[in-house]
Amino acid sequence: MKMYFLMPFLTLLAIPVSAAKMTMPSDAPKSYETECASCHMAYPPGLLGQKNWQNIMSGLNKHFGTDASLDAKTQAEITQWLIKNAATREKYAAFAPENRITKTAWFIRKHDEVGADVWKRAGVKSPANCSACHADAAKGDFEEDRVRIPAK
Ligand code: HEC
Ligand code: HEC
Repeated sequence: MKMYFLMPFLTLLAIPVSAAKMTMPSDAPKSYETECASCHMAYPPGLLGQKNWQNIMSGLNKHFGTDASLDAKTQAEITQWLIKNAATREKYAAFAPENRITKTAWFIRKHDEVGADVWKRAGVKSPANCSACHADAAKGDFEEDRVRIPAK
């Protein structure tokens, strides 16, 4: 079943890619760490395209069920930096449903071996919690051989 569902994506994504590194740019404004890594890790900007970052930054008052509003200056600073460093390669820049990295076709495909029960483990909590399994996710390191899935 799953394969049939993924077929169209696989065709679209038949470009060879090394997904392992979406490096965190070294010029991240301090505000990105203080404002965007308090509830979850600081997602490297290369994980989403421009339009998605724009949507996220213009809807912070209704941010995935929470209020993550910022003052105008900080909001502009972070937005500018995210857009400058957003994904450019087609696969990663493609519009992400719900502005979620975890709803992109590439994310779903890369994680198709992770069972539904695994995502719910206490040590994982959510697919958005990248660093639960990718220890250096905040640096943009998603290398396959360094993946460690919490046992519970
Ligand atoms: C008050 C807490 C809070 C703050 C502050 C916050 N977020 Fe979030 N964010 C959340 C929650 C909650 C989710 C949903 C997490 C989940 O599904 O497990 C989320 C999800 C996300 C996602 C989608 C993750 C996925 O599922 O792919 C992105 C991208 C994101 N946040 C970016 C940001 C950015 C950029 C900032 C800073 C401007 C920020 N967040 C600040 C609470 C916050
Ligand atoms: C429950 C653990 C878990 C979580 C949470 C998780 N991943 Fe993964 N990730 C994996 C596994 C397992 C693989 C596949 C490794 C393999 O193919 O051997 C993987 C593969 C990847 C790959 C492909 C690596 C490569 O070399 O091809 C990327 C990119 C990736 N994950 C990004 C993310 C991002 C971004 C997040 C958070 C939004 C995330 N992952 C959350 C377990 C996880």
